[in-house]
Amino acid sequence: MTPALDLLLTTAGGANGHHRHVNGHNGVNGLKKRVDGFGTRAVHVGSEPDPSTGAVIPAISLSTTYRQESIGVHKGYEYSRAGNPNRNALEATLASLEAGGAYGLAFASGSSTTATVLQSLGPNAHVVSVNDVYGGTFRYIRRVAAENQGLEATFLDLENATDEEIVASFRDNTKLIWIESPTNPTLRLIDIKRVANLAHSHPSRPLVLVDNTFLSPFYSSPLLLGADIVLHSLTKYINGHSDVVMGALILPESNADIAQKLRFLQNAIGAVPSAYDSWLAQRGAKTLHLRMKQHGLNALAVARALESASGVEEVIYPGLPGKTASSKRKNELAWRSLSAHARKFIGAEEGDRPPAEGFPFSGMVSFRIRGGQTEADRFLTSTRLFTLAESLGGVESLAEHPAQMTHASIPPAERALLGIGDNLIRLSVGIEEQDDLIEDILQAISNATGL
Ligand SMILES: Cc1ncc(COP(=O)(O)O)c(C=O)c1O
Repeated sequence: MTPALDLLLTTAGGANGHHRHVNGHNGVNGLKKRVDGFGTRAVHVGSEPDPSTGAVIPAISLSTTYRQESIGVHKGYEYSRAGNPNRNALEATLASLEAGGAYGLAFASGSSTTATVLQSLGPNAHVVSVNDVYGGTFRYIRRVAAENQGLEATFLDLENATDEEIVASFRDNTKLIWIESPTNPTLRLIDIKRVANLAHSHPSRPLVLVDNTFLSPFYSSPLLLGADIVLHSLTKYINGHSDVVMGALILPESNADIAQKLRFLQNAIGAVPSAYDSWLAQRGAKTLHLRMKQHGLNALAVARALESASGVEEVIYPGLPGKTASSKRKNELAWRSLSAHARKFIGAEEGDRPPAEGFPFSGMVSFRIRGGQTEADRFLTSTRLFTLAESLGGVESLAEHPAQMTHASIPPAERALLGIGDNLIRLSVGIEEQDDLIEDILQAISNATGL
């Protein structure tokens, strides 16, 4: 048995005992403690050679149903909505990559993942959510869950709220705290440990969910900071190639009962990904560590170049200390909350201060161009390498205008409160050559502003 398979057996399976094997490997040979590095797990866990053919890369299992030798006696699969070899393999990979994870559950999109979690709360529950949560999450809470299950919601600035304000938002029926960090598009950063401590010491003991899409399991390990559930839109960094829409949940061993409930809903609601998409996402996840390192290095370089450009009013990148007290606080929090593997990549030693020149912290950069919508529009049509498009997390660099694109559905007054002005531009910095990206950004800024 390979070391990677040792590890797989500690993480595969999820809440449903039927699926404790992956790719036909049955049986759990005791729980082994050995944990390989992030990149090794990304390549090997859930991806063992097929024992029946020797194929190094798993076949795509398109069958919707599975032969039973006698009723109920089978190789762990009955019907593909309940369990599919490619989906289960991906779920094992994800559970292994999200530090502290034991159960992985994949869904047909990040949004159906959100819907499944919120449905699991039942009728008349209350959630506390970060105020500038992803628009689709806000829409589901307000327009679907509120109407269909009486879900109540409090939206709070979890970056700046005091402990007292956070605790005051909890009610007897508060079942979930929804954190997204950094938020989109202004990259507010939430202190997950602080919020989790407040939630877990409150009598209603709400669960803490972290949408870790923007940082990916490479830069942040929310389960180790006290979160109960991590959510990803796999559409973004984990798949990483802008060709799959999918989502996932990862839960720690201590939340086996919640994982089981969600596994039940995964099958009962049925918003499951196809075998082909699962296979693609697993292929993408194998290079997550390499891509995230380059995304981070490139984003830091682009953010620094933007800081020095006279046509730019403000740069938002939590890896940079910035110029204000609040950006410095954010930079300290980003440094404190880096995952162990990101710290190793950066070379951070215990007790080190955040470097003055900044550090890689995923690939998202937002900035305010000098001027307004005209200058923003001109910038977005002047770039040669950054493509004007929504979404993020792919290998290619993208740029967008939140006020007119991703956040256009938010009323202008609320947008203004959230800091989403007409001159705000969001970049998803890809993994192209750094010099080319910087040259592209600087020529577009000067073309747009004349500065
Ligand atoms: C932070 C975040 N969470 C969830 C989602 C929803 O994911 P999906 O588009 O895969 O449904 C998105 C999509 O943009 C997102 O940015």
